[in-house]
Amino acid sequence: MRVTIAVLLLLYKCLIFAPNAATEPVSSELSTKDDNFLQNNIKELTSALQIFTDLLQELGAAKKKLQATETRLNALETSQQKLMSRLANSEAQIEKVKMENKDKPKVAFSAALGSNGFFGPVNVDSTLVYKNVFMNVGNAYQQTTGIFTAPVRGAYYFSFFYHCSTSHKTWLYMYRNGKKEALAGQHSTQQGTPANGGNGLMLLLQKGDQVYIVLQKDSWIWDEENVTVFNGFLIDVM
Ligand SMILES: *[C@@H]1O[C@H](CO)[C@@H](O)[C@H](O)[C@H]1NC(C)=O
Repeated sequence: MRVTIAVLLLLYKCLIFAPNAATEPVSSELSTKDDNFLQNNIKELTSALQIFTDLLQELGAAKKKLQATETRLNALETSQQKLMSRLANSEAQIEKVKMENKDKPKVAFSAALGSNGFFGPVNVDSTLVYKNVFMNVGNAYQQTTGIFTAPVRGAYYFSFFYHCSTSHKTWLYMYRNGKKEALAGQHSTQQGTPANGGNGLMLLLQKGDQVYIVLQKDSWIWDEENVTVFNGFLIDVM
């Protein structure tokens, strides 16, 4: 490459010198002037060659840098594409979760007995109707019957608390579909001192399962200021 350029430059210089040489009178000996002229031209030519050689080197280095930059740019583009597709994936995931949550039923209730005093003693086992409803998201608890009906299969948490004098006994069962699941209560005592009790449990319910609190025969219970309550909520659909 360098050689080619050097040759081309030499040719170019020769062409420039040629007309001069032609107009000069032919002489058998080169004059000192001509010699100097030639020397100067060779110097010029050499330095021109040097400049071109340097330029070529710089060009080579620049080309390498450009190639390296191109490689990095390609890598960047690739990683950008990857990031874009990951972003799209994440967005799709978020949408999916949003949709799932939108469809997920929300169930939670809390109610106090609201008897404003004693209820009972009762002659027969009696389902307690907690009529003082604090909240009933999803309307799975029925205020007029005291029965909670699971709208979906899932894990639910229920709790019930009471306060009552012990002049009579107090036995409360949590039922699921006519079957006893949990007990809270106390025997009667001669002193008749007030007592508190309660229970709570998680149940895996099928859709339509019913949960309620039953006050046993000959039991009584008391409520004022929401001391006797029944609560429940859906933890997750299963
Ligand atoms: C009992 O609950 C009702 C709401 O259902 C509320 O208005 C009342 O203030 C509560 N009583 C007490 C003592 O917290």
